[in-house]
Amino acid sequence: MLRTHTCGQLNDLDTGKNVELCGWVGSRRDHGNLIFIDLRDGYGLTQIVFNPSLKQDVHRKAEELRPEFVIKVKGIVQKRPRGTENPKLATGLIEVAAESVEILNKAATPPFEVSDDVNVTEESRLKYRYIDLRRPGMQKALRLRHKVCKLARDYFDERDFVEVETPILTKSTPEGARDYLVPSRVNPGMFYALPQSPQLFKQILMVSSFDRYFQIAKCFRDEDLRADRQPEFTQFDIEMSFVTEEDIFEISEGLMNKIFSQTIGYDLKPPFPRLKYAEAMSRFGCDKPDTRFGLELAEITDIVKNCRFKIFQDVLKKKGRVIAINAKGCGSYSRGQLDELIEFVKDYGARGLANFKVEKGALASQIDKFFSKDELAGVKERLAGVDGDMIFIVADSERIAYDSMAAIRKLFGKRLDLIDEKKFNFVWITDFPLFKYNDEEKRWESEHHPFTSVHPDDVGLLEKGERLHDIRSRSYDLVVNGAEIGSGSIRIHERKLQELIFKTIGIGDDEAALRFGFLLDAFKYGAPPHGGIAFGLDRLMTLLLGCESIRDVIAFPKTQKAFCPMTNAPSPVDEKQLDELNIKIKK
Ligand code: AMO
Repeated sequence: MLRTHTCGQLNDLDTGKNVELCGWVGSRRDHGNLIFIDLRDGYGLTQIVFNPSLKQDVHRKAEELRPEFVIKVKGIVQKRPRGTENPKLATGLIEVAAESVEILNKAATPPFEVSDDVNVTEESRLKYRYIDLRRPGMQKALRLRHKVCKLARDYFDERDFVEVETPILTKSTPEGARDYLVPSRVNPGMFYALPQSPQLFKQILMVSSFDRYFQIAKCFRDEDLRADRQPEFTQFDIEMSFVTEEDIFEISEGLMNKIFSQTIGYDLKPPFPRLKYAEAMSRFGCDKPDTRFGLELAEITDIVKNCRFKIFQDVLKKKGRVIAINAKGCGSYSRGQLDELIEFVKDYGARGLANFKVEKGALASQIDKFFSKDELAGVKERLAGVDGDMIFIVADSERIAYDSMAAIRKLFGKRLDLIDEKKFNFVWITDFPLFKYNDEEKRWESEHHPFTSVHPDDVGLLEKGERLHDIRSRSYDLVVNGAEIGSGSIRIHERKLQELIFKTIGIGDDEAALRFGFLLDAFKYGAPPHGGIAFGLDRLMTLLLGCESIRDVIAFPKTQKAFCPMTNAPSPVDEKQLDELNIKIKK
């Protein structure tokens, strides 16, 4: 090695040692005739001091040093003078008095300073990612990500799981997003799909008697990007044979607890609470509730069903729902504040937001004349309203009412400062619906994917083709502080049940054979009962690091437009390459 120590290693016990350090020049400060630089590498910072009375030529050379030059320094570790120590820095008690300096490489002036405190656009950070990654925050994120992967691998290895790689050039999988396609040169007109997950392969591995599979798997999905979504992301992917939900929960809880306790010292105290989908929806308006605070929703459809308010009546005629929330202590909101909230719910498709303030023990509103005394008293009682509160109500289709009220709940959770940011509240959501209705295409489809097993109590409904809305599945999500970090299910392994599901969602024999034929064929040869789960590693990392964006935990992420500003991918290709692939670009 060209160095004896890293820049994050030395402390006062090393005083007097001769050392050699290599790294990048951070800030340079000239103090009278002393020159100080912060020498930085991936491990930390060490202060180097150049003293002309020690070595005049070395001091002169230090004047040439510029930010991000790569240098090697030889010197002696000395205690910093009293009063100049930096207790925030691991090496803050010492400095190295330089006896020689060698410039290993000069650097162009960087587009931004390498520091967590500097304000840079994300575009610039991603374009110059190699510099951005030098920042201590990014160093910490990627090093912690490495540790989390290692903890997971060890965890699964200790429990007899086998890591098996599954193909990247493959066939479309059933996760339901758009595929990234790769043209085949040797099979003109044919395409591979990049896997949206290893789903079908991991199920096939169960047929092959690898009864405990895991993989740190790259997944690719061409979907609208958000702060918590990337077109390529990583899963801890798991599948097991001869298991029930309980086994998957136990393995998952152990993994999460190991990761949280051994990285950030947070004991999750498994088992995690469980919440059925229907209850999550009625209490929180969504299937990934932040359970760090209350402020729960209440349905008041039954109370207002005979009211004279036309908007509510119109909604009720269409089998809509009336959902309310009590914004504690917000009874004195101004017209402007109320209008702002109405605009807010419009983003979720709601046409309006009714408000009732609680004063003198009763509800008061511009629209209270449309409600009977009993109705108003009933609403106040259900929402536990006391003087000074404000009750907000949305009447709309079930989806819009829940979406907008879940968003209002989140907003007030923050606004009323109800969220303990230090907490991690894990919760399993279970008993999801098996199917959802696709309004645009006027047909039923799988809520999760078509290999998800049905709740044993609802098989009868499925066989009769009745109340498809009410049929529950054996799928589950793991939710933390309002984010879905894992999802899985017990799968179908019996052919008859699989055929029934395909029939219900309108996948005919030919289509099933075309899309999933290989899996169905494999299932003919002895498929064990099996189930699994996949965790989103990137989302897990944002939680552990407290980051806002998933892009801050990925070395080379894409922008919201699925673009990489560093490599300029995606980009046009040569005509010759297109010819070889038999592809013509439409003008
Ligand atoms: P699912 O599609 O729910 O399930 O994905 C599992 C978990 O992966 C994460 N995730 C994402 N993270 C970042 N960017 C994305 N675009 C993205 N999409 C999903 C989420 C999610 O909970 N094969 C099934 C799993 C199974 O049934 O075993 C699957 O992929 O944290």
